[in-house]
Amino acid sequence: MSDPVTIHEEIRTLAAERDAVVLAHNYQRPEIQDVADYVGDSLGLSRQAAATDASVIVFAGVHFMAETAKILSPHKTVLMPEPRAGCPMAEMLTGEQLAAWRDEYPGVPVVTYVNSSAKVKALSDICCTSANAVEVVRSLDAERILFGPDRNLAAWVGAQLPDVEVIAWEGWCPTHDDVTVEQVREAMARHSSAEVIAHPECRPEVTALADAVLSTSQMLRYAASSEAGEFIVITEEGLLHGLAKAAPGKRFVNLTPRMLCPNMKVTTIEKVRDSLAGMHTAIEVDPEIARRALGAVERMVALG
Ligand code: 13P
Ligand code: SF4
Repeated sequence: MSDPVTIHEEIRTLAAERDAVVLAHNYQRPEIQDVADYVGDSLGLSRQAAATDASVIVFAGVHFMAETAKILSPHKTVLMPEPRAGCPMAEMLTGEQLAAWRDEYPGVPVVTYVNSSAKVKALSDICCTSANAVEVVRSLDAERILFGPDRNLAAWVGAQLPDVEVIAWEGWCPTHDDVTVEQVREAMARHSSAEVIAHPECRPEVTALADAVLSTSQMLRYAASSEAGEFIVITEEGLLHGLAKAAPGKRFVNLTPRMLCPNMKVTTIEKVRDSLAGMHTAIEVDPEIARRALGAVERMVALG
């Protein structure tokens, strides 16, 4: 087995040889974040996938993220080092379910969180991420919208836009939905001067306790610019690596060691190297589904 420095160098050499860019989500293992060309949230990663000149994208994240990259860049090769990395929330709303749900509400726009399959995106009017969900819904100027699959992000959007009726699908993130008010209050009692930053995939009663409700990359920027020196971080533990880099010298309290997304951790640095060496596993999306999904994703990316 090679040492981490050697693997890092192997990946950089292979990436240059293959004309590849390595994209990693903020929850990936620290050594993967450190070798990537770009580390970001779902919105930033989509933007990078759309803008890159590289002919190969190696995606260290979960399946819907690589699929979104393929939808945005159909002529590029998109590789997943570990194609079994899925997102349970994305599986809570199928294309068939969305088609039936839409039929119950004729004319009501469908806003879909990017944590969803290409089939679901293809049936949607517009996509959103945690970074821009409020802005996306506001842009529709609608009285009612259907929002799936995340009921918690839907509740957050509804709370920010009281004039819009947000009809939510019953999906959730097992990692974020598990957080309880008691856990947060307990951490707040132990760290009374800390600011609380939470991801909108947490339950409404948890986000209600937060000083700021933010996407993962927004948390990095917030921590760097805030006056506070200590933060209670309510999101997946992989973000702590980026937080330490973005705001050196500040203290970050991980709410619970259980705030871990197992799917985000199945990709290892060895698998990133091996996927570049063997050019596997290429992610494919049915061209007709991809064409229809592209409209919803592009409308989101175009929103600034
Ligand atoms: P971000 O887009 O905020 O990084 O969130 C993605 C995700 O899957 C959170 O669980
Ligand atoms: Fe999906 Fe939750 Fe993991 Fe994000 S943290 S990829 S929403 S299961």
